[in-house]
Amino acid sequence: MKIQIAPSILSADFGHLADEIKRAEAAGVDGFHLDIMDGHFVPNLTMGPMVCQTVRKLTKLPLDAHLMIDNPDLYIDSFAKAGADLITLHLESYHSGDKLSSALKRIKSLNKKTGICINPGTSEKKLEPFLAEADEVLFMSVNPGFSGQSFMPEVLPKITAIRKIYKGDIRVDGGINDKTVKQVIEAGANILVTASYFFGAKDYSAAVQQLLR
Ligand code: DX5
Ligand code: ZN
Repeated sequence: MKIQIAPSILSADFGHLADEIKRAEAAGVDGFHLDIMDGHFVPNLTMGPMVCQTVRKLTKLPLDAHLMIDNPDLYIDSFAKAGADLITLHLESYHSGDKLSSALKRIKSLNKKTGICINPGTSEKKLEPFLAEADEVLFMSVNPGFSGQSFMPEVLPKITAIRKIYKGDIRVDGGINDKTVKQVIEAGANILVTASYFFGAKDYSAAVQQLLR
């Protein structure tokens, strides 16, 4: 599988968002990751559909909305309308499997791709009932909430286990940099999210090269 890089705009300079996106595109990134946080599901507040809509106008590359929120069902339609191409739901946001399944069906009915995500502390076995309905699995390799945290190697065997039984995209999010990337790819991931490593780099093309090396 081709390795793809999706910078999280969480660490971009929001005063110059249009420039940041242009520079990232010129560096050869494959899409943009939007970290949606509500201050309840995670202890941080970030952006909503309005920012997604803004980014939509700035790029044609795929946008994935990573919903770290309570009651994600209330916002699926808004993010679809705001131009997200893929909407990722946390397993931990749902108290019943049926509700998660219905939400995935709703995303599909809006002609968007579906993602399911688990926190570092959640067993990958819990993903299994939903794999057939998901275009992508997203593994958190930090506890969600903030960029700039250290990669948690505990996620590696979970990625390996799911890669054995799953043919879709596997994305990894948290603490990805030139040192941690190799093990993540070896474990079977094919899409890398990066916030602080990418947007902290002076030269975005060099950052992409380092990750793909
Ligand atoms: C964490 C977010 C990540 C995070 C990644 O809650 O989901 O996307 O911003 O940041 P880095 O790459 O700095 O670990
Ligand atoms: Zn994320």
